[in-house]
Amino acid sequence: MSGAAEEAGRIIRERAGWRPRVHVVLGSGLGVAESIVEGAVEVPFAELPGFPAPTVPGHAGRFLAGRVGGTPALVQSGRFHLYEGLGPDVVGAPVRAGRAAGAHVLALTNAAGGIRADLGPGSLMLVADHLVAPGRPAAHAALAGERGRGARAAGPFYDPEALEAVERAAARAGARTARGVYAAVLGPQYETPAEVRALRAAGADAVGMSTAPEAVAGWALGQRVAAVSLVTNWAAGLAPGTLDHGEVAEEGARAGPALARLLQAAVPALGRLAAGGSAG
Ligand code: HPA
Repeated sequence: MSGAAEEAGRIIRERAGWRPRVHVVLGSGLGVAESIVEGAVEVPFAELPGFPAPTVPGHAGRFLAGRVGGTPALVQSGRFHLYEGLGPDVVGAPVRAGRAAGAHVLALTNAAGGIRADLGPGSLMLVADHLVAPGRPAAHAALAGERGRGARAAGPFYDPEALEAVERAAARAGARTARGVYAAVLGPQYETPAEVRALRAAGADAVGMSTAPEAVAGWALGQRVAAVSLVTNWAAGLAPGTLDHGEVAEEGARAGPALARLLQAAVPALGRLAAGGSAG
């Protein structure tokens, strides 16, 4: 890992006073889930080496180190996207900082457009796999690092035991979930209806603009990776009207608390996985 990542991890650990077990990334508009952190200590991105200032409004750009359901965790609000024109060094920086701070489990969340018929607004989709359209960007190869060198199997990027742990925790918390395939598009524009039809034909169940690069980065570092999509809207062309950011933000705010409850239940289970125990 780079010196900047090691230094960022050290700063986070020093502020927290302990090593986080689980690194949670909150998707855009899902900042309400910050409320799950007890005894939060803030570490703004601006104070960490290797982190530029975020450019998307509504992205706070900070870590909260604290406990989630009793488990030492690092909760990140704001992330870097490939569509901002940023490279793998920056897009992967928070993941590397979290790993350097001590997290062995990475729990990614995102807002996504629903494609599969049972994944309407408000649905929670556990990411079983991703596909990147139309081809894997060069950034993914860079993010895969040594572990992805040469002609090798891609992944599996999402850890099956972590997925099961989140699924069981969600059931205990009374949250209904479904498994699905996340299509990662570059963005920042939403898809055309024709692109959504193409993604559906390709096997996608939901579509969004993040998560896949970070999942690859976490996998490259040997982390167990889980990801949850909060479906905020029907993907373009699947509902009347034109999709806009307001609709996505509104549903994110409405359904954010359900995601927060899921995370509160899932983080302790993922923390047990990080410790090498049973996920329960
Ligand atoms: N497409 C891409 N990204 C998204 C969407 C969508 O429909 N909804 C939320 N993020």
